[in-house]
Amino acid sequence: MESYTVVKHLHITAACLSLAFFIWRAFWSVNGSSMLKARWVRIAPHIIDTALLALGVALAVMLNFWPLPGWLTAKIVALVVYIVLGTVAIKRGATPAIRAAFAVAAVAVFAYILGAALQHSALSWLAGV
Ligand code: HEM
Repeated sequence: MESYTVVKHLHITAACLSLAFFIWRAFWSVNGSSMLKARWVRIAPHIIDTALLALGVALAVMLNFWPLPGWLTAKIVALVVYIVLGTVAIKRGATPAIRAAFAVAAVAVFAYILGAALQHSALSWLAGV
């Protein structure tokens, strides 16, 4: 398989793992589970999200994406928003209701990023409508 295809599949795998693991931790956060304190649960998201970002950067370099296309800039900004909302959902939210609301918002931003990636448009799923 061509190296670009391998990196793209790894990037997509990291994105799936990031979402799955986020939803799992959000459930634990809303339920007040002590699982969130486990060492591997605290470390794994950093490894997955760093891999997601690094593989995305590698794809952009392989495609000679400079200056960055608008949809990719939108993806990167949205990734930061996803991470910030995720921090409130998992850690900083004062009550279970606040943490649940931020978890839903973070998943909505993830869906936006997915649409921007697949449509190659900052309009995400609305592109071409
Ligand atoms: C939650 C975050 C992200 C998700 C869910 C995501 C998802 C995806 C998906 C599904 C694809 C495949 C699109 C296709 O097959 O046409 C893709 C491609 C790509 N992503 Fe991401 N991505 C994320 C973050 C990033 C970041 C942060 C960067 C850059 C730093 C990035 C750069 C790229 C590039 C350059 C491609 C290749 C597009 C192409 O083949 O034309 N991604 N991404």
